[in-house]
Amino acid sequence: MAAAQGSPVILAQDTRGTASQRAAAVLRQMTAAEKLTLLEGYFATDFAASKYTAPAESREGSAGYVPAIPRLGVPAQWQTDAGLGVATQGGARHKRVATALPSGSLMAASFDPALAYEGGGMIGGEARAYGFNVMLGGAVNLLRDPRNGRNFESAGEDPLLAGTIVGAEIAGVQSNHVIDTAKHFALNDQETDRGTGNFNIAEAAFRMSDLLAFELALERGRPGSVMCAYNLVNGLHACESPFLLKQVLRDEWAWPGYVMSDWGAVHSTAASANAGLDQESGFGLQRAGWLAPEKLDAALRKGEIAPERIDLMTSRILTAMFANGLIDHPVTRTTPIDFAADQAVARRVAEGGIVLLKNERNLLPIAAAARRIVVIGGHADKGVLSGGGSSQVYPEGENAVPGLKPTSWPGPVVFYPSSPVEELRKLLPNARVDYAGGDDPAAAAALAREADLVIVFGTQWASESIDVAPRLDGAQDALIDAVAAANPRTAVVLETGGPVLMPWADKVSGIVEAWYPGRMGGAAIAEMLTGKVNPSGRLPMTFPKTLDQLPWPGEPRHKEATYTEGATVGYKWFDAKGEQPQFAFGHGLSYTTFAYGKLQVRRAGEGLVASVRVTNTGERAGGEAVQVYVSGRGWEAPRRLGGFSKVVLWPGHSTTVNIPIDPRLLAVWDTAKRGWARAAGLYTVTVGHSSRDFASSVRLRLPVSHLPPGWKPEASLNRAPL
Ligand code: BGC
Repeated sequence: MAAAQGSPVILAQDTRGTASQRAAAVLRQMTAAEKLTLLEGYFATDFAASKYTAPAESREGSAGYVPAIPRLGVPAQWQTDAGLGVATQGGARHKRVATALPSGSLMAASFDPALAYEGGGMIGGEARAYGFNVMLGGAVNLLRDPRNGRNFESAGEDPLLAGTIVGAEIAGVQSNHVIDTAKHFALNDQETDRGTGNFNIAEAAFRMSDLLAFELALERGRPGSVMCAYNLVNGLHACESPFLLKQVLRDEWAWPGYVMSDWGAVHSTAASANAGLDQESGFGLQRAGWLAPEKLDAALRKGEIAPERIDLMTSRILTAMFANGLIDHPVTRTTPIDFAADQAVARRVAEGGIVLLKNERNLLPIAAAARRIVVIGGHADKGVLSGGGSSQVYPEGENAVPGLKPTSWPGPVVFYPSSPVEELRKLLPNARVDYAGGDDPAAAAALAREADLVIVFGTQWASESIDVAPRLDGAQDALIDAVAAANPRTAVVLETGGPVLMPWADKVSGIVEAWYPGRMGGAAIAEMLTGKVNPSGRLPMTFPKTLDQLPWPGEPRHKEATYTEGATVGYKWFDAKGEQPQFAFGHGLSYTTFAYGKLQVRRAGEGLVASVRVTNTGERAGGEAVQVYVSGRGWEAPRRLGGFSKVVLWPGHSTTVNIPIDPRLLAVWDTAKRGWARAAGLYTVTVGHSSRDFASSVRLRLPVSHLPPGWKPEASLNRAPL
């Protein structure tokens, strides 16, 4: 590598050419040392355990920092977590105040990519204002196990839903001239042994499940970066897997961004760089520094890495920086944050993804005549729960319920100051709303006995780096039993990361899944309970009745494990095994009713378009997630989600929705012939309210089809080249 010729100051600001041409022009001027500086990221929070002090130029208390090259006009990369808002590392002394969106599971439950885009846009806006230009959001790992402590960060169990929602959120983040990241590539589907576990899966099953979710998220979101995962996949660390990082990402998907590692997920120098890792993250959090300049230099000298490889790694990073506007629209930290506007976004998202699971005896919405309402448990007098770990976003002021354990990593346990009780009082000025903490079930039951309606809040705290029991924390199941026995007019509002078992499900009249509903969660819950907002969320994951219904009923998998269920994930497993879930994927009730006309299906290119007229036949305006399922022979499951569309209708109004069905969802991955293979034969397309509640079907004969690896729908090809 030649030393720089001359000094073309601020070369990067020459706006002529495409992103890759501009990257190439800068690369030509870089010294060998400058190139290497882009390949190693520092942890950006002081870390006492390894006596590490974050670089002074990094943003305090954040996840990562890659130094600038001022001579050439290349800015620093300031990285922070991102999926639910602008996060601050748990170990940071000062917490950055930012707007917390609801969890990823709620976002997925909205079945609404437009809402996900809006939420992403809000995050990216606050990120810019705080001086971040690389966001570590976009968790697209599939929910394979309800016990995964990080289920709340990602978007459920279905590859189409997860890829679509996360892709839309990524696009929203990036609409602010910042880079976003799709993570954790791949199969980081549990936290137990995440750093050492080797998770095996057959290739075809992998292609039709987790990889498909990533493929769709990348097509739709076009993230500048992909983060390789902590775990091993089929025997190799994800960050040194040529299959994942070269064959799939580059050769097949032709994805042009750069691969950054998860924080401490690198285990080699040459093997990682040659496999397709472009940037190591988190130096300082762990001391290895496998892509540190001196290690890369040594590998270059020994011929283990070719100079062209370093150029490729550097140019990928630079290209993503140019393509996403990091150079032409530098972050300045001067924009004030309009927190009121951002909280309105958080509230809209929460309103779109809270799911009404059960509603008997017309319990909800709360009747205008109700005079005495008793709310029990879940710290509902103070706020709403959030999930822990690197995605944790901190609210203004105090944590609404400080001091709960664990108070440090993987905690703290944070409640946002949006109290459902206070919000209910505002919306029900003529009712008396009492609150009891629930520590004393007998006292709670006594209070409940007197009420017109009882609402029990049930919480499950989940966090990165731990897996959790799929049930409410502590003795809350017994509390609900006691309260429901005292007053059957009881609704349970859940704040959980993912599915929980509900041994009390038959004893209560109403169940609401509010997930971790974010900074405005209390308001959104109260609006939904009182009918000011009509619930329109749908489950993005199956809620099992018992653990033995799961493919892996015992404990979470350990160390060396095989995902034997393959692509038969979630509802696909339940359908294939004939198991009856507690609540099915796609399920969610409304305060109105929707009727479907006759389904029509036509061919469009290699795929299909399903059309159906939807009418709001009830008395309230409401949103419906129209779901189209497809069935073919020899698949991993009786049906797959083929497409969906969220519509909002006034009472008595109708609309026709046209839902495209991606041809990859009509095919299976053929490992021998390499690509997506559709056999000639009969296929069924079904429209319904959930994966178990169908309205109308069409059977049609389709011819044989073969799509090569990396096949993309036309819409995603019609984009400007980088
Ligand atoms: C997590 C990533 C996160 C990173 C930086 C890791 O522990 O797995 O999701 O982006 O930390 O905070």
